Amino acid sequence: MFRSFFNYLAKASWARRMVAKWSIAWKMASRFIAGETLDDGIEVLKLLNSKGINATLDHLGENTDSPDKAHQATLCILEAFDAIEQAAVRANVSVKLTQIGLGISNELCIENLTLILEKAKSYNNFVRIDMEDSSVTQRTLDVLSAVRQLGYDNVGIVIQAYLYRSEEDIRKLLVDCVRIRLCKGAYTEPADLAYPKMRDVNLSYDRCATLLINSSLSKDCPRVSADGKFPPKASIATHDPARIEFARLYADKVSLPKDVMEFQMLNGIRRDLQEQLVKEGYWVRVYVPYGTEWYPYFMRRIAERPADLLFLLPALNFR
Ligand code: FDA
Repeated sequence: MFRSFFNYLAKASWARRMVAKWSIAWKMASRFIAGETLDDGIEVLKLLNSKGINATLDHLGENTDSPDKAHQATLCILEAFDAIEQAAVRANVSVKLTQIGLGISNELCIENLTLILEKAKSYNNFVRIDMEDSSVTQRTLDVLSAVRQLGYDNVGIVIQAYLYRSEEDIRKLLVDCVRIRLCKGAYTEPADLAYPKMRDVNLSYDRCATLLINSSLSKDCPRVSADGKFPPKASIATHDPARIEFARLYADKVSLPKDVMEFQMLNGIRRDLQEQLVKEGYWVRVYVPYGTEWYPYFMRRIAERPADLLFLLPALNFR
């Protein structure tokens, strides 16, 4: 119930206008978000790298409603690649397709994504397409397929374990050797499309992780690249210790080398676990968002853990 409410707020423009002005909301959001500028993002990447953690940088924004704004967002993402290269940090970039025009047309989105992929290619870097709500799942996969047909293989996708269709999607994508980030899914979805119960989402997550690990067993399977930019085929993105344990145990059982899988987490969540996995010799990549459009991302994080709102209480300074 709380989750649906906060996911509703994430999309409500009246709530955005109200909440985004509160300095206290920004104070809370800054736990997850590097800052409002690209420089802020790069500083966090340097810090993570110094701890042996790779990263993926996200210029925040989604549901862009004009071609001009989609182009502006694309330019910001191109700058992010320049900054990563100049700072020589171990990071790639994550992109939401509705930020670069998917809500307007597939063609516009493909045009902008092609610019991004070309730039990434010029630096031998990688782009991860985030997965948004189910209204755009198929179109996101269609755009991925279109750019791969244009010859770009420096691009991967996110699959959400809560959708019934995901196991089938993974099987199809693996035939094409697509690098996949597996997450549980952050949006509110109807019961005819997604498992309503977390227990079933977890079971689906483990089944999907098994598919990814099995498909990574061949000798020529891509590994985490030496410069930390390219991920392997299997990225296990979760903070859930039970899901992480499942993937580790299964990978051990089938003797998967450690650099053929990576764990991914979000900036500001379970830093202890991120560092522990690195100490144990696993590759970890952290998702680092930056920018002024932090409101919907922040609301989705609150939707996952409304208890975090309790951090607000001391800041409200009741007397
Ligand atoms: P779960 O929600 O069960 O949480 C497990 C534990 O993690 C909690 O008990 C708590 O300790 C901790 N935790 C989780 N969320 C927290 C929070 N907000 N604050 C504090 N602690 C928290 N989703 C999507 O739909 N499309 C996408 O493209 C992506 N991309 C993505 C990239 C990466 C790198 C990650 C890690 C996640 C995503 N997600 C995503 C989000 C994902 O779908 C999911 O909503 C969150 O990861 C939370 O789910 P968990 O798997 O962590 O499990």
